[in-house]
Amino acid sequence: MSRIPRPATSGPSRARRGPAALSALVVGTALAVVPAAPANADAGCAVDYTVDDWGSGFTANVEITNLGDAVDGWTLDWSFPGNQQVTNLWNGTHTQSGADVSVSDAGYNAAIATDGSVSFGFNASYSGSNAAPLAFELNGVLCDGAVDPDPDPDPDPDPDPDPDPDPDPSGRVDNPYVGADVYVNPVWSANAAAEPGGDAVADEPTGVWLDRIGAIEGNDSPTTGDMGLRDHLDEALEQAGGDPLVFQVVIYNLPGRDCAALASNGELGPDEIDRYKNEYIDPIADILADYEDTELRIVATIEIDSLPNLVTNVSGRPTATPECDEMLANGNYIEGVGYALATLGAVDNVYNYVDAGHHGWIGWDDNFGPSAQLFYQAANAAGATPDDVHGFIANTANYSALKEDHFSVDQTIGGVPVRQSDWVDWNRYVDELGFAQALRQELVSQGFSSDIGMLIDTSRNGWGGPDRPTGPGPETDVNAYVDGGRYDRRVNPGNWCNQAGAGLGERPQTAPEPGIDAYVWMKPPGESDGSSEFIDNDEGKGFDRMCDPTYEGNVRNGNSMSGALPDAPVAGHWFSAQFQELLDNAYPPLD
Ligand code: BGC
Repeated sequence: MSRIPRPATSGPSRARRGPAALSALVVGTALAVVPAAPANADAGCAVDYTVDDWGSGFTANVEITNLGDAVDGWTLDWSFPGNQQVTNLWNGTHTQSGADVSVSDAGYNAAIATDGSVSFGFNASYSGSNAAPLAFELNGVLCDGAVDPDPDPDPDPDPDPDPDPDPDPSGRVDNPYVGADVYVNPVWSANAAAEPGGDAVADEPTGVWLDRIGAIEGNDSPTTGDMGLRDHLDEALEQAGGDPLVFQVVIYNLPGRDCAALASNGELGPDEIDRYKNEYIDPIADILADYEDTELRIVATIEIDSLPNLVTNVSGRPTATPECDEMLANGNYIEGVGYALATLGAVDNVYNYVDAGHHGWIGWDDNFGPSAQLFYQAANAAGATPDDVHGFIANTANYSALKEDHFSVDQTIGGVPVRQSDWVDWNRYVDELGFAQALRQELVSQGFSSDIGMLIDTSRNGWGGPDRPTGPGPETDVNAYVDGGRYDRRVNPGNWCNQAGAGLGERPQTAPEPGIDAYVWMKPPGESDGSSEFIDNDEGKGFDRMCDPTYEGNVRNGNSMSGALPDAPVAGHWFSAQFQELLDNAYPPLD
């Protein structure tokens, strides 16, 4: 897998020094309102225009909130008051003629639900003053925070014969982890117990990864051993003993899998969407359906690391790869995720959680909103609806710290914002808890149910041991301050493979924080992220140099050392030395 941060050139860069961001809700007062929305539609919008200005240029973030009926396709128009000139723009396409700018959607973010938002950003140059535009128009309608009523309202609106909230007809509960134990995978448990000291955690629940078609029936792979899905479900019923039990399964076999990296490339080629549907998702759904009326609650985490790659690793970004461009162009990630959501979601006791990357990947403004929009698009693809999504999972198989206590994005050290430090690098978030809670809000604003909950994978983000900081770093400069205080001791937050120094994180627990359904160990600790040199295998897995400890990096990790442990086996295979280090550096420490 890969978890790739946003490109350093597409947002504010740390080279820029300037006044703090100016945020303004721009409300037009002088312009006439020109209703140009479709007939019989309410139209209205608000625009939040935020600027990081460094004197001769600036980066703007523009958030459009649709207050009217849902739109599919948008254009935002404004005039600059000065000589501002857009130099590059992301998450949209633009034209500029003199002072007049017109920005249209980028395709994947064309739909804006009622009360939903989309964001785009741009860099611009200017001289003289840099006043904000006075007014914006969305599809020809002035964004003044008001809604123009439907000129021909439906004369017979639905009187809502059932004023009570409809109970979920599937019988799903709000948080499946409440009042339930969680399945312990005997294959992982035996591997853990065989390690010195492993007994301390061998009874913890971990995810069951269906990482290829053969894993459904059981294929003697190091990950699944000789247990197929049905074997696991039967064992789960034993463990349940008549009480509710969460069974965590990872759906991980998209066509063209892992398009920005090589370590977890899979068995299906980029165009093999039909095999994905017919030979992978359908058989899984058929088996799960046999356990529909049991006490099992099936938590299905959907396609780790797929959708964010279509935001951050495609053309227009310096981090682009041809493989991710192909998966964006052929639509098979979106189609596959939509199909998985719809097909698995049709089984009453399945709770779908879509993978949402982590803060060190999509925490930047130019990735955050667009990722949420893309998730919404996938939740409406291939027969899926947003009701098929129970929530999202952050940090799967990653190492981002749960909470950083010793620095925050609101702080300034010697006049320099913490966001400007090399480590934070203008990210909006510094840890997974803050990121997951904020992303939940963003997802709701995009149109997902306000009942969605988040999972956070805490399997390997503990960062304990003797090197764990006990207080903030020195205030000599912003980098010393952040680096001295941070728990996450990676070389760069874009590093993702078998990270040296990591420890087990919070033990799995239910409803630990507002908006968080559970901390989970979705990645089974001790299973490798990728081999540190090429090892021949029949799983489709490649060799990614991010798993080689001598690798000096690329644009996706700020050209930093990989930070990977040496002598690692193929992704998913047992990696004893890593497991030992995870035990040693566990935080909270093991009893
Ligand atoms: C591998 C999978 C494995 C999973 C869990 C991934 O990196 O590609 O084969 O099942 O990790 O260890």
